[in-house]
Amino acid sequence: MGQPASSRPFHRPRPGAALYCGKVSLEALARRFGTPLYVYSADQIVERLALFQAAFAGREHLVCYAVKANSALAILKLLAGRGAGFDIVSGGELERVLAAAPEAAGRVVFSGVGKTPAEIDLALEAGILAFNVESESELDLLAERAQKLKRRARFALRVNPDVFADTHPYISTGLREHKFGIDIRQAPKIYRNAAHSRWLEPYGVSVHIGSQIRSADPFGSAMERVSKLVAQLVREGVRLQAVDAGGGLGIDYHAAGFDAVPKVAEYAAAVESALAGFKGRLLIEPGRFVVAQAGALLTRVLYVKRNGNKTFVITDAAMNDLIRPALYQAHHEIAPVRLRAGKPRPVDVVGPVCESGDFFARDRSLAPVDPGDLLALLDAGAYGMAQSSNYNTRPRAAEVLVEGAQARLIRRRETIADLLAPESI
Ligand code: LLP
Repeated sequence: MGQPASSRPFHRPRPGAALYCGKVSLEALARRFGTPLYVYSADQIVERLALFQAAFAGREHLVCYAVKANSALAILKLLAGRGAGFDIVSGGELERVLAAAPEAAGRVVFSGVGKTPAEIDLALEAGILAFNVESESELDLLAERAQKLKRRARFALRVNPDVFADTHPYISTGLREHKFGIDIRQAPKIYRNAAHSRWLEPYGVSVHIGSQIRSADPFGSAMERVSKLVAQLVREGVRLQAVDAGGGLGIDYHAAGFDAVPKVAEYAAAVESALAGFKGRLLIEPGRFVVAQAGALLTRVLYVKRNGNKTFVITDAAMNDLIRPALYQAHHEIAPVRLRAGKPRPVDVVGPVCESGDFFARDRSLAPVDPGDLLALLDAGAYGMAQSSNYNTRPRAAEVLVEGAQARLIRRRETIADLLAPESI
């Protein structure tokens, strides 16, 4: 399917052939590792990171991959090896980075509205690059913890630019009505006060307006506001080293021919043109764009049944494996691994969980499928496994990373014993 950097790594080597991830057959992976199975292309992940790195090559920059999108240790290690930094939102995510790539600790930014004292201490001890601070009281706590541990804390205020981004309301964050960030109008005062603290170093300013944003315009608008703030701060004697533009660049979940290259170029142009007056370092925090299209959730059809005039395809994967359709009405393309002859028909693709919300697609036109067939739920590399749960006491899926012609298990399938282990009667 086209150039590697610009489309999905899942393809049919010949028209009508079964689906592959790069050079590896999905049928072979299902036989070897079972289903449901998350399959990721390492090659595409690396290519997507490189797209961002190249787009901002004109200035000092750091791509801080948003760990929440997919926090598999093997993927973090892969990205760290290619020079990525990381955007984390919990002490747990920091521990993941430290486990996968301890040398990257100095390339970590810590975002999130509710950091606990223990998480702040962990990050100070690890020597992270910067805290993206989301309230005045958090900054007070950061100063207190920094003093206690005798470690100076670099921080960026995460400002709320009050910019509308056209995306699902659950993943939009840049309006004043959202819980995120500090009102951009209050920021100068807070920087001025912090400049007096021995334990706080005003390092940058950060912004993140939401996720799955398809147009470059809102990024430009947000950056223009940030740019004005940076200029105002310079006039007031506060010189910041870095601007963190956040993440949020969206993909096209529908189109097979989606081209990532111009998308990243447009995004970079919007950010750069708004930041023309700023000569410092740029950080960005993409998550979805790096990993979403590299991943698919491979599932086996258990049953096909008709209720009235509806046909249900029941798979061994469920909403606990991939909750995006249920939670955000998200669309994921569904590709039968082996195509059967026959007319496509509208079906509901659903999982075994006891909720009507447990569906992957409704009234989706799908080529005929039989029990035992494999389906690939595409673009599932971001916020798939990361948002999975054990609902219905279902062990979480295994994960496989495909690199060239090799496939490697990067997370074994959970067992029921794993699930019961923390409990006592
Ligand atoms: N930086 C911050 C501060 C964030 O809150 C997020 C995502 C990112 C970066 C990365 O955004 P991305 O480039 O991946 O859009 N579970 C939802 C998405 C939640 C996004 C939360 N924050 C989904 O499945 O669509």
